Amino acid sequence: MAVIYNQEKRIFSLQTKNTTYQMKADQLGYLLHLYYGKKVSQDMDYLVTYADRGFSGNPAEMADKRTYSLDTLPQEYPVLGTGDNRTTALIIRNADYGECCDLRYVSHKIIKGKYALKGLPAVYADENQAETLSITLEDKLNGACVELLYGVLENEDIITRSVIITNNGKGKFVVEKAASACLDFLPGDYDFIHFHGRHTMERNMERIPVSYTETRIGSRRGASSHQHNPGVILAEHGTTEDYGKCYGMLFVYSGNFQCEAGKDQFGQARLIMGLQNEHFYYPLEKGQSLVVPETILCYSENGFADLSLKYHDCIRNHICRGKYKNECRPVLINSWEAAYFDFDGNTIINLAKEAASLGIGLVVMDDGWFGKRDSDNSGLGDWTVNEEKLGCTLGELVENVNKHNVKFGIWLEPEMVSEDSRLYREHPDFVLQIPGKQPLRSRNQLVLDFSREDVREYIFKQVCAVLDQANIEYIKWDMNRNLSELYSSQSFPGCVAYNYVLGVYDFLEKLLERYPDILVEGCCGGGGRFDAGMLYYTPQIWCSDNTDAIDRLKIQYGTSFFYPASVSGSHVSAVPNHQTGRITSLETRGIVAMSGIFGYELDPAKMPEEEKEKTREQIKTYKKYAGLIQSGDYYRLSDPFKDVFTAWENISKDREQVLLSVVINEIHGNMPVSYVKLKGLDGNAVYKDEESGLCYQGAALMEAGMPVISSLGEYNSYQVALIKKKG
Ligand code: GLA
Repeated sequence: MAVIYNQEKRIFSLQTKNTTYQMKADQLGYLLHLYYGKKVSQDMDYLVTYADRGFSGNPAEMADKRTYSLDTLPQEYPVLGTGDNRTTALIIRNADYGECCDLRYVSHKIIKGKYALKGLPAVYADENQAETLSITLEDKLNGACVELLYGVLENEDIITRSVIITNNGKGKFVVEKAASACLDFLPGDYDFIHFHGRHTMERNMERIPVSYTETRIGSRRGASSHQHNPGVILAEHGTTEDYGKCYGMLFVYSGNFQCEAGKDQFGQARLIMGLQNEHFYYPLEKGQSLVVPETILCYSENGFADLSLKYHDCIRNHICRGKYKNECRPVLINSWEAAYFDFDGNTIINLAKEAASLGIGLVVMDDGWFGKRDSDNSGLGDWTVNEEKLGCTLGELVENVNKHNVKFGIWLEPEMVSEDSRLYREHPDFVLQIPGKQPLRSRNQLVLDFSREDVREYIFKQVCAVLDQANIEYIKWDMNRNLSELYSSQSFPGCVAYNYVLGVYDFLEKLLERYPDILVEGCCGGGGRFDAGMLYYTPQIWCSDNTDAIDRLKIQYGTSFFYPASVSGSHVSAVPNHQTGRITSLETRGIVAMSGIFGYELDPAKMPEEEKEKTREQIKTYKKYAGLIQSGDYYRLSDPFKDVFTAWENISKDREQVLLSVVINEIHGNMPVSYVKLKGLDGNAVYKDEESGLCYQGAALMEAGMPVISSLGEYNSYQVALIKKKG
């Protein structure tokens, strides 16, 4: 049993294979957080101490006992206006008396299986893989009913949290802030680790101590953003990849979010993950509810590597869905860096021919095939095939591509519109725009109001009309600007950003229902909406618009803390690289791209025959290891921000097959020797290098490692494939 209730003490224990999460409805009905960490089998209420807290607020029920204060007690779902003056998980503004919502325990239910959330992505599991705890809290005065949902995936060491806020009162109130997870830590000495970035340089890692200053990261951009990822880690100071205690929080949402970390006056740490409270005030009339997106929690006492493995498995098995969930994804070639807007049907057919001769299985026609779209200044919203530009119909084009035994994929950006488009001229009211104010342009485009069902339906029909014309087996779903004017004629202003994201999810769900066999890859100027919410609909996401192999080492490193290789689109492009001008070898570009869902972003016709031959070999190598890369364990073996080499390892779950990849980042005079230590091997087994035939004991490779071949020179790279010897 994953959820255990001690009725006498009103203690709830969520037990996973290696962790315990505990809380208690106390004598006043407040839900106190007791413990989250390594598995224990006792009640942890002894941890909560009561000292004189007369200078903090004391509830009236405690009469003259000044030792009880919500300002200092560890809470499960703290609310502003109840005496807790720290940052809280919930703010409700009442019409008559400001911000207060005094939530007390009412009831709970323990249910087999994992709860689902209406209209929102969430972790899913079979009935026998998970249990749900639902705790109902209520404020008697305003009638707010808050259902705290906990999903426990015992074997995965995963606990999810979500919250449903319902107005069961007589009047209206406004939700001004809503988080789905709060963790209170009694001793508060931790580091806060988050992943920040920018367009073409996403998910750089920063590690800072949790301090008395409140740290807050998040997005107000309408998408989860290039700038901050909704996945954070709280770790004890000394925690490394292999040792130490760490907690992860991953928000399953693709829009505005906020994560806060800080210490209170007594040095106790609080970590909160939820909806961004700027651009957000959500009124609830009698009977209405707000669903707060889910946060996935995980704890490991064995460092970041173990934490990452658990998130990878959770995302692969309990977030990603559909036909391609466990299937090896096709190696693709994309027309973007090959031709940008300058192509016709023949360009695509030629790409397909080249693809076929190289062993590539899918050609993607990127931006530029529709409406009037020869640059990024026009045409978005007009999802009609530009047959004049292509020189044929879409059906003819795809038939031609398929003739080469190559699948066909297409680029779409359904949420957007150019002012220079038929759609905008006919329906200027479809865009997010504040009446009387010119909306901001970004990449010279405006955002369609996807919070509106009629707008979504209009675009859906257009998109289906395209998809129905031909055998389309892949979609790249792009979103190339952020939201700015959050006004909609059909949503209350404070709800627009949230309703927009729900609208995108609704569109995607309908699309998947109608085209269950199409593989959809997410994209947002590269990795600007790289989150677990999108992964529920799109089992892979284009990791970054930066295809430079050396920059990618850092981007993919940061991405790997939460996201598995199976969800991260990664392509070989031409040199000099279009984003950085850097020149790297084809081999290095291939090895780096093999740490994700592999593909190409160049015109093979421009390659000399010798390079084509190397590419053929590269694709064969990828195909040999595609299963291992997609479904095996992934370990980071160095830190590209600090080390002179970058290394990572893919190892099969049965520890039989290993692929080590190493790139030399820096070269120096009289170079000291570096060693790369492998992870997760069977220590007693012997592993054979498939190429050299040399044999190593697993323990030796893990304890002492292998010397790094720096003599290959800067930006060069190599792979070592090991196979466990039988017997
Ligand atoms: C974004 C994507 C690119 C490409 C262009 C097309 O920037 O990330 O891969 O599709 O849009 O406009």
